[in-house]
Amino acid sequence: MLKKTSILLTEDKFAEQEDYIQKIKKLNVLFETEHRRPRYAFTQTYGCQQNESDTEKINGMLIKMGFVLVSEKNEADLILLNTCAVREHAEQKVFGTVGALVHLKKKNPSLIIAMCGCMVSQQHIRQQIRQKYKHVTFVFDTSAIWRFPENLYNVFMGKDMLVDAGHDDGIVIEDIPVKRLSKYKAWVPIMTGCNNFCSYCIVPYVRGREKSRKREDVLNEIEALVLSGYKEIVLLGQNVNSYHKDIDDSYDFADLLKDINRIEGDFIVRFMTSHPKDASHKLFDIMAECHKIERHIHLPFQSGSDDILKSMNRKYTSGEYLALVEYARKKVPGITFTSDVIVGFPGESDDDFEKTLDLIRKVGFCGLYMFIYSKRKGTPAAKMENQVSDDDKKHRFMRLTELQRQVSEEFHRQFVGKSVRILSEGFVKNDHNMISGRTEENIIVHAELSDRSVSEGEFVFVEITDSMNWALKGKIKD
Ligand code: SAH
Ligand code: SF4
Ligand code: F3S
Repeated sequence: MLKKTSILLTEDKFAEQEDYIQKIKKLNVLFETEHRRPRYAFTQTYGCQQNESDTEKINGMLIKMGFVLVSEKNEADLILLNTCAVREHAEQKVFGTVGALVHLKKKNPSLIIAMCGCMVSQQHIRQQIRQKYKHVTFVFDTSAIWRFPENLYNVFMGKDMLVDAGHDDGIVIEDIPVKRLSKYKAWVPIMTGCNNFCSYCIVPYVRGREKSRKREDVLNEIEALVLSGYKEIVLLGQNVNSYHKDIDDSYDFADLLKDINRIEGDFIVRFMTSHPKDASHKLFDIMAECHKIERHIHLPFQSGSDDILKSMNRKYTSGEYLALVEYARKKVPGITFTSDVIVGFPGESDDDFEKTLDLIRKVGFCGLYMFIYSKRKGTPAAKMENQVSDDDKKHRFMRLTELQRQVSEEFHRQFVGKSVRILSEGFVKNDHNMISGRTEENIIVHAELSDRSVSEGEFVFVEITDSMNWALKGKIKD
């Protein structure tokens, strides 16, 4: 049963969605009798873990409605694309895929093509879909996921190009059925939205304002996951360190970590993403005490230049960032840092870029997600005049990747000869002699199997024998 936690919605509305699930189920039973096979659904996710987690909810609802999930678009009766808007490239990829679906729709006119997620939360994109991609049946934004059953039912009842967007903001919905992709690793969103409005970023416009889930709901979900055998809990939010700031008491993200750490069982907790302006000393003090919380933080710095950080509206300086890293290292020995960085932000000079390289050298990130600045319509940075040329962006990007390759290589070398515990994620592709997993510091390890077998989701100890710039290699200890 769907349940509400927001005062904006009444219980009746959730009961209504449950009714629609049952109505579609009946239609799917009829379909199965007639066609001697169930209705097939294919879902594809673009973008970040928030989107992965949303797709797991949609998949959960689809299964409850009697759909069978398939991995081939060609077989499907319903295709759903959950889209990302963070960079232009992400949108182009989706449009490429949607464009190609016109052939499948011609072959099978009753095929339902649905698009949801961040990209279609923008009005100009919905307009583009209406004009150029008329074979799309159904579009809904990130705030309308809970109404998916009702909308899908209306599609079955013959509504053309149904659009459900721009209606609700800041609604937290509990207990939508979830079909988790993994049996040992669970995404647990603790909040949605973002209030930060970094000047380059589209996320606040497409995901709305920050809204936290209640702590009881988060803790109950994690307890149930651990009881059913989940070993890795990944807490999700655009800015997890402002968890609970929209709820009127002093409880915060660090307190939540402490409470999660108290849950019984052998499991680890990761979290992302942390904004440097909100990552508090208290967070690292609590990480130091709580052994189930992994010793790693994803702490995007975006630029090493204070002028650029100001223009990005990030609200910290490179000095403050470095001071935070120093505090974290003192409090949580062995903590590792990964980060995001953007090159070619409007106004970025050679000198600004050198400051970015400098910060990378000073911190020694174990991994870095590097992005070329992409203009996002409707954001303040898109209107800035001093845009950087494509040539300069590409050149800086190459220097950045080369530096990070060296930094990661050096970072990983220190693990050779050490013993680490990893959570097995199964075999390395095409090699049944080698498993892949991650250390407590979130470093990828490829480990040779000895005589014993190892299952997915099992903790094992590995002796590190070699290192590369992107991972460690080792042997499983008996
Ligand atoms: N909430 C997270 C990040 C969300 S988006 C945070 O604040 O850290 C993930 C990353 O995409 C960002 O950290 C940023 O590095 C990058 N990004 C966002 N908008 C971008 C743009 N317009 N061009 C290039 N990279 C961008
Ligand atoms: Fe975007 Fe900044 Fe919010 Fe992250 S904190 S989602 S970069 S606006
Ligand atoms: Fe993309 Fe939306 Fe995530 S824009 S990065 S899918 S929050």
